[in-house]
Formats: sequence, structure tokens, C-alpha cells
Amino acid sequence: MSNNLTIIGLSWGDEGKGKFTDYFAQRADVVVRYNGGNNAGHTIKANGIKYKLKIMPSGAPLEKECVIANGCVVDPKILLEEIDTLKKLHKKINLKLSSTAHVIFPFHNILDGLEETSKGRFSAGTTKRGIGPTYSDKAARWGLRIFDLINPEIMRPKLEQLYKIKKQLINIFDPSWDTDINSIFEEYKSYGERLKPYVIDTAYYLNNVIDSGKKVVFEAAQGNLLGIDHGYYPFGTSSNSNALGISAGTGIPPKKIGRIIGIIKAYTSRVGEGNFPTELINETAEQIREQGGEYGTVTGRPRRVGWLDLFNIEYGIMVNGVDRIIITLLDALEGINPLKICTGYELNGKVLKSWPIQPEIVDICTPLYKSFQGWEARTREEWLEIAQKGYDALPETIKIYVQAIKEELQTDIAFLSVGPDRKETIVLDNNIF
Ligand code: GDP
Ligand code: IMO
Ligand code: MG
Repeated sequence: MSNNLTIIGLSWGDEGKGKFTDYFAQRADVVVRYNGGNNAGHTIKANGIKYKLKIMPSGAPLEKECVIANGCVVDPKILLEEIDTLKKLHKKINLKLSSTAHVIFPFHNILDGLEETSKGRFSAGTTKRGIGPTYSDKAARWGLRIFDLINPEIMRPKLEQLYKIKKQLINIFDPSWDTDINSIFEEYKSYGERLKPYVIDTAYYLNNVIDSGKKVVFEAAQGNLLGIDHGYYPFGTSSNSNALGISAGTGIPPKKIGRIIGIIKAYTSRVGEGNFPTELINETAEQIREQGGEYGTVTGRPRRVGWLDLFNIEYGIMVNGVDRIIITLLDALEGINPLKICTGYELNGKVLKSWPIQPEIVDICTPLYKSFQGWEARTREEWLEIAQKGYDALPETIKIYVQAIKEELQTDIAFLSVGPDRKETIVLDNNIF
């Protein structure tokens, strides 16, 4: 049993982090987002309501203390919209927003689109939410932080300076672009006024929370393969979208972090561009996409789908020190036969021992598969009934499929998921948190 728990995705995002952060939030005091921004789309289905959260941590539906820590980039307009939506659903807002999280401005969104176009075949197919340009400004040390946003007299000169540079940059792509700096300033000043009551130093807050024995869930956005350091660079996002981002993104020392849970889907999905060795482009892909509802939560784009790739997941388990895995969307593979799982890659006739992180090498590898018998389609009521009865009620074919994953990854499974609802969950190991 651990006091703190981290939920990360081990693939390209959308593994079901929202569902399981909400699940564990039932036993937590505080839920923390520590990376990314509103490029994330985390879906929670509970008590007949479906929430789609972009920047608010997935503890919000349960009215838990929610922290947006310093590793995040925040679009204040989107955050305020989410706060308003939650208030309309009669939710109490228990938010703590880090004074050192970085602010996304409208010119970041514009630059995101322009940079994507210029990158040509190297573009990642971003969500165009200004994520890359905002993290770039953070690294270049001229970004604005939430502290600046809530102090207009400090914000003004910094914003003027940043705007001047960004305008010159945007004008390279689009010479006619201009915008009124005063109106941006006034708009953002008003966002700052509204957000000010939530702003604190979250590093002190979180260390105190942990030291006092309270339970914290850290919720990653995106997935390990999208991570800036350990993902498919450049076809990913701009933060450490895995457990490695926690310490820098919160101020919590590594030794206090606790257990790490890695979520995988029963297959693979990817939204955006870049390598996808096990991708399917056929009727099976369409069937999985429809059965799994594989359309982007943020952009609505159809997600690319393919067979489960355990070779790249093994890498994620290694670098993140994953303690347990969760397998989601098992129900979405219903009626597909046979099923395949990739267990390694072959290059020039040789089976590789380690996963090649370079996209150019992955491109010339051939995935190696094991085949499995599929399972029949069921109604939603039948999946719920299975979840309520537990592991023994699962069809043998699912048991064989998930045991093979466990053996291949040499990592125990904590939960299986057979539907989007909180109740559609099968517990295998309840002692992790
Ligand atoms: P996240 O970004 O990791 O939080 O995942 P998303 O919310 O973007 O995408 C996961 C989608 O799958 C959401 O629509 C969830 O409601 C849904 N989901 C999660 N677990 C399951 C499951 O076991 N079965 C089905 N059918 N849907 C699930
Ligand atoms: P959640 O948290 C899936 C992808 C984009 C693009 C790349 C870079 O819901 O799992 P960005 O806008 O971050 O610069 O885009 O990363 N991407 C995601 N894909 N789920 C996400 O978040 C994603 N966030 C970013 O499609 O390929
Ligand atoms: Mg998502």
C-alpha cells in the first residue's frame, strides 16, 4: 500500500487516464496535474454524467482538492470555462493553481499552427492549443507565468516584450498578421483577476500535504510515447508526459512519489502524425474505432488504431518504474477474430533486444506478432454484469489475452476495464493505493 499514486499512459495518450484517476480519486485527498495543458482530454463517466476535462484534474467531479502544478501550461480562458462548466453542474471548485505554471497566449496558438505547416512531414499533427510554443518560451526564459498574470503591472512589460518578438516571428509566415496588444493585456488581466483566488505556491502545499500523510494522485497527461525525452521525438508533445515529469513538474522529490500505475489499451490508438508500426488501415481498424469510440476528445479527429505493441510499452515500464498495469477497452475488441499482439521487432532479419526509440529506425522494422482467439460481442448490460461479478466471469479468451500481456511485460495487472463507466471495472489488486 502506498500513500501516493501516479497514473500514466504507456502509449500515445487516451488510454483511460481520466477514468482511472477518477477511480482512485475516490480514495485520495488531492489530485494533481503536473504536465501538459488543454491538449489533454480526459473522460470520466460516473453517476450518469460524462465529463471531458482538458486542464482541470480528474478529481474535480468528486470535488477533491485539485492542483494544477508548475509543470503545466495553462490557457486561462479554457481553465475558467471549465470552472464555469463544473459550477453549472453544482460542483464545488477546490482548485490550487501554481504561481509558476506558464501561460498560453493567443499568439502561441497561432504559432502552433504556423510551425506545424512549416514542419511539413516532420509535423506531429498537434492539437494546435499552443502547447509547443508555450513550452518553447518557458525553456527560452521569456515565457509569462501565472504570477505575472495575476500582477498586471508585472505582466505588462513582459507581455509587451514577448508580443514584440512573437509578432516578428508570426510575420515571417504571415506578413499581414497584427493584433492589439492592449486588448490582449486587458483580456488577460481580467482572467488573472478571476484566477487569483486559486493561486498559491503548490510545491509547498503538496509537500505539506504528503508530509501530513494525506493521499495524493498524480495524473499525467498524454502518454509515454509522446514524451519529449523518452517518446517518439519529434512526433510527440513538449513535456515529460510520464512519471519522470512529476518531480520537476511539482516540486515533490522522487523519493516521495510512491507507486506508479501504467495504463494501456487492449489495442493501440494514436491521434496525430508519426510512426505507428502496428497500425491497421482496414475494416478491422474501422470496427475497433467505432467500438472504442476512437475520436479525439479535444479535436474530434478519428484516432488511428492498431494492434497492441508491447515492445514500446516495455520501454515505458522500464523508464517509469511502473509497478502495476491497467488494461482498458477490452470490450472494444469484441467480435474481432483473431487478435494480434506485437511482442518485438525484427530488423534486417534479426530480432531486436531493445526498442529503437529513433523513428527512422522504427520505420524499417517489422513487428512480430502472436495471435489470440477473440471474444464475442456483448451488450453494455452484459459487460457491466461481468464487471460486477469480477475476473472469474470473464470469457476464457480474455483471460488468456490479459495473462499473455502480464507475462510478456512481467508486470502485474491491477485492474481491467470493460467500459467507460466507473462501475465497469474489474479489480485484480486493490492494495496498491
Ligand atoms: P485519457 O486521455 O487517457 O483520459 O483517455 P480519453 O478520455 O481521452 O479516452 C479514453 C476513452 O475511452 C474515453 O472516451 C473513455 O470514456 C473511454 N473508456 C475508458 N475505459 C474504457 C473501457 O474500458 N471501455 C470503453 N468502451 N471505453 C472506455
Ligand atoms: P491525453 O492527455 C492523445 C498528440 C497530438 C500530437 C502531439 C503533439 O488526452 O492523453 P501537442 O498539441 O501536445 O503539441 O501535440 O501529441 N497529443 C495527444 N494525443 N492524447 C493526448 O492527451 C494528446 N495530447 C497531445 O495529437 O500528435
Ligand atoms: Mg485523452
